[in-house]
Amino acid sequence: MPLEWSSSPPELLLAVDRTSSRPLRAQVEHGLRDAIRTGRLRVGERLPSTREFARALGLSRGLVQECYAQLLAEGYLVTRAGSATRVAAGAVAQTGPAPSSGETPRLTVDFRTGVPDLRSFPVDDWLWATREAARTLPTAALDYGDPRGSAALREVLAAYLRRVRAAAADPEHIVVCGGYAQGLTLALHVLARGGVRTVAYENPGSPVAVGEAAAAAGLRAVPVPVDEHGLDVDALAATDARAVVVTPAHQWPTGVLLAPERRLALLAWARDRDAVVIEDDYDAEFRYDREPVGALQGLAPDLVIAIGTVSKSLVPALRIGWMVCPPHLAGPVTEHKHRSDRGSPTLDQHALARLIESGRFDRHLRRMRTTYALRRTALLDALAEHAPGVRVTGLAAGFHAVAHLPEGVDEQAVVAAAKARSVGLYGMSGQHASHSATPPRLVLGFGNVGERAIAEGVAAVGDLLAGRS
Ligand SMILES: Cc1ncc(COP(=O)(O)O)c(C=O)c1O
Repeated sequence: MPLEWSSSPPELLLAVDRTSSRPLRAQVEHGLRDAIRTGRLRVGERLPSTREFARALGLSRGLVQECYAQLLAEGYLVTRAGSATRVAAGAVAQTGPAPSSGETPRLTVDFRTGVPDLRSFPVDDWLWATREAARTLPTAALDYGDPRGSAALREVLAAYLRRVRAAAADPEHIVVCGGYAQGLTLALHVLARGGVRTVAYENPGSPVAVGEAAAAAGLRAVPVPVDEHGLDVDALAATDARAVVVTPAHQWPTGVLLAPERRLALLAWARDRDAVVIEDDYDAEFRYDREPVGALQGLAPDLVIAIGTVSKSLVPALRIGWMVCPPHLAGPVTEHKHRSDRGSPTLDQHALARLIESGRFDRHLRRMRTTYALRRTALLDALAEHAPGVRVTGLAAGFHAVAHLPEGVDEQAVVAAAKARSVGLYGMSGQHASHSATPPRLVLGFGNVGERAIAEGVAAVGDLLAGRS
């Protein structure tokens, strides 16, 4: 969307070089053309008046008028009597990216994973919390603050995590960060500085996310298999890793729970190996048919960095997460956070603190649990009706499921055929370190798909899932 300026004239940064032999008029014209071609000035965007622009550049108004006239003649600008000069609609037609010939059909139902119900974001509650935060924040809090994050949010988070996740959370050792993504990056950098060379991750899991974060930190990333009890700790012990990224409460993407004996074995491994466990506690708020599962961090706060996020409980756009660090790592993580970005946005942190403190966050979670439980049922019903041979697992928590396709079905062919029918499906192979598509499985996200769409989407691809076409 082009920028609209209400009353004050828009600023436009353009450099002129008075020492150059190139005439000033040519320089200004070239600068404007270039700004339009490269997209610094968008179609429809208003230019400053010739008077303002001339004053800003220290040039005569007449010269700027000549430049505008030239660009009007060339079709870069348009103007109407009595209104501002703007970038013309056709100005960048030749320079924009060419439309792709292999058109991607628009998906009418998309089972993309990792996205909560975006429409359910509690806008009114968030507005209330933001207003409260802005109204009550002392002026001093608008300065650069504690890189760990606002004390208010860390206090509230510690209480929340103790209450809901049975975490051993101390506000002194919490670092607020930009979602799980930044938390992982910070953790791996700090561990690399501390001498760790290899980080292990679950397979299937997040090979790309962990692989990229590890590479950025200068670490080697090694996959370790996951079975029906979670991470294979014996296989982990056979690697040289001194850090591991795990999703104990609801393994991503298989959905299995890390079995109690494996939890203990994992912590024993960490203690023996002088290693650190990075716990990705991404969707634990949403559980359906089993007893609550506490965070691994609660069992060994000295060995585990637990990373949480509001990306599933609220929305990814907020980019708020937190790290509960072992005491000896809280300092280095804080230092690295300070170096990275000086701390996360304060107002949003205070707003989140208000949201949680006021009970509005819990109320939202309760509402969403009901919504996701209904979607989960809709998915199971639709699969039972349209693809009865497909086994579904991983549904005890969160908002994605694993569909096990009949043997011999080509996972990627199903994904491609579904796409041609405007249904977005995603293969488990994408989460596998080797991209193996055997056995054929799909990871179906139902967080951001309504019940009716789930039914329609599954009906549209049921024959593919069942291997009937
Ligand atoms: C396994 C897993 N962990 C964590 C996250 C959340 O990441 P972030 O907090 O950076 O949005 C995601 C997002 O999809 C995820 O799939």
